[in-house]
Amino acid sequence: MDQAIGLRNRASYSDTTQETANKNLNYDSTTTSPLRVFAITSGKGGVGKSNIVINLALAFDQMGKNVLIIDGDLGLANIDVLLGLTPKYNIHHVFEGVRTINDILLDGPGNIKIMPASSGVQELAELQDEQKLFLMEMLEVLEENIDVLLIDTGAGISDNVIYFNLAAQEKIVVITPEPTSLTDAYAMIKVLHTRYGERHFRILVNLVKDNREALNIYNQISKVADNFLDGLSLDYLGYVPKDHNLPRAVMKQQAMLHLYPDSPASQVFPTLAKRLQVTKPGKSDGNIRFFRHRLFSLG
Ligand SMILES: Nc1ncnc2c1ncn2[C@@H]1O[C@H](COP(=O)(O)OP(=O)(O)OP(=O)(O)O)[C@@H](O)[C@H]1O
Ligand SMILES: [Mg+2]
Repeated sequence: MDQAIGLRNRASYSDTTQETANKNLNYDSTTTSPLRVFAITSGKGGVGKSNIVINLALAFDQMGKNVLIIDGDLGLANIDVLLGLTPKYNIHHVFEGVRTINDILLDGPGNIKIMPASSGVQELAELQDEQKLFLMEMLEVLEENIDVLLIDTGAGISDNVIYFNLAAQEKIVVITPEPTSLTDAYAMIKVLHTRYGERHFRILVNLVKDNREALNIYNQISKVADNFLDGLSLDYLGYVPKDHNLPRAVMKQQAMLHLYPDSPASQVFPTLAKRLQVTKPGKSDGNIRFFRHRLFSLG
């Protein structure tokens, strides 16, 4: 392909998309707080990742942050189902050039935007170079409009899950008191550490009674990691209590934080969001540049 033409096309795509992005997302493009990219992961399925992503997103939203969720999980209870949304388009339509990135983004509660799960998202790890470039441009466009990007990686240690974990600079590993959750989380951390050199992880304990039980669970995984994995840092992020209102919110396909703001589990999310906001990412490089670089160089 004629390189100049390629660059020109890309430039005009970016210009128009930037305008539409600003308009549709209703954001002030002059705000320049650095984008934070978090992957929420677990190893074991069904530990509460998707619900944590949604409620954490809402907590950031309530802090005035512009939030985008990328749903990397094609499972049954994915983000759009949990929020009662029906995606019409997916990332394939963007690659085909028939839709812009804004067409595929769903409006979640608050001002949250959601890139829905689709086979396109699942296949990001296998994108061709040209598609990766395209994706990087889309992210560049979104970059100025988003403060927080939350990625629901889905369960397991598939290529796709690994890919999203490596692409995000900050990794939050969700564990529960179930022994299988601990062993699967450890397996995930071990792969990311030994094969890919990842060193920093935050641990979020779900489905516990209180902070004391959560710390007890955290100490278990932390001890094993200390004994067997060198140079690893597992930070305790906090806990989400077991709360009967969470399954009720799931049944109603609404975010718990909206539906039951006073419920115990709802109350921890603003604290978790603030904690994440004040702690700096591990590397000094801009997070989004890191993310884009990773998207392009991995896979
Ligand atoms: N803090 C909690 N209190 C009560 N129930 C919870 C809590 N967290 C999760 N659950 C229950 O666990 C179910 C699974 O949660 P969720 O779908 O968020 O898990 P997941 O890790 O995203 O699952 P998957 O790996 O299949 O994508 C919820 O529908 C809810 O019933
Ligand atoms: Mg899920």
